[in-house]
Amino acid sequence: MRHWQIPAIAPILRANQRCELDDLRGRVTKDGIRIYEDADFAGMRVAGQIAAQILDDVGPMVVAGVTTAALDDFIRNEVARVGVVSATIGYRGYQHASCISVNHVVCHGIPGSKVPGRSSDMIQEGDILNIDVTVIVDGWFGDSSRMYTAGNAKPFAQRLIKVTHECLMRGIAAVKPGNTFGDIGFAIQSFAEENRCSVVRDFCGHGLGRVFHAPPNVLHYGRAGTGPVLEEGMFFTIEPMINLGRPETKVLADEWTAITRDKSLSAQFEHSIGVTATGCEIFTTSPKGLFFS
Ligand code: MF3
Ligand code: CO
Ligand code: CO
Repeated sequence: MRHWQIPAIAPILRANQRCELDDLRGRVTKDGIRIYEDADFAGMRVAGQIAAQILDDVGPMVVAGVTTAALDDFIRNEVARVGVVSATIGYRGYQHASCISVNHVVCHGIPGSKVPGRSSDMIQEGDILNIDVTVIVDGWFGDSSRMYTAGNAKPFAQRLIKVTHECLMRGIAAVKPGNTFGDIGFAIQSFAEENRCSVVRDFCGHGLGRVFHAPPNVLHYGRAGTGPVLEEGMFFTIEPMINLGRPETKVLADEWTAITRDKSLSAQFEHSIGVTATGCEIFTTSPKGLFFS
């Protein structure tokens, strides 16, 4: 007897379709935030550690006279040498392996572009700069940024860097199941403002995992007890941008570079984290134990 069989539906997928299927993993909360599984922490840990390793290794290159183009070339080469993929090259037309944001650049500084107010992309003695690197490793995104100084930065610049790092760590300390995203924002904003600094409102942290930017928007300001409730298995970044002057920003004609409107100094640190049963795991801790250099 002829036996009619329903063929197994084995979709033929191109490599770039994998993500969409992987996005079916886990579940999504009512706020649209994906809940990942225990096993997924391992993937994020590897991606985060590779991003952090690159941020450690670029540190000694940050000296007066280096160009941001040279720093980005180093990062691009490291990404290739380790055998991973840059998440930023090709992202919405962006062409670089990092964002390098000098002095009053808030974020998304383009390597190789003139430092705003200067005739070249050369770093000078006393500059402070953020380097932001995102890599994709086995489909997992590791996103982190840190501050660097070229030679001796002014005491007020060093103070801004310390305050900003503390803002990030206080935001992270507020992460545990049952707390809210507003608790994170409140912890950051209150510490920044107690220290006579301001929190940038125009950019935020984000969910990530198998994608670069996912819900929720992680605001770096807010009221305790407001916003979505944190749950075990959420993966997101916290990446406060803190200014010495006013919080307003402006994006330059290149459509990427964001600067402070009042030209005051701005600093930023970013970690990728995952919510655990009791708190969180930081995926992007420095292998060398550095936080700025
Ligand atoms: N890494 C940045 C972030 O923290 C995003 C950079 S996107 C780029 O979300 F295209 F500007 F590189
Ligand atoms: Co980010
Ligand atoms: Co980043």
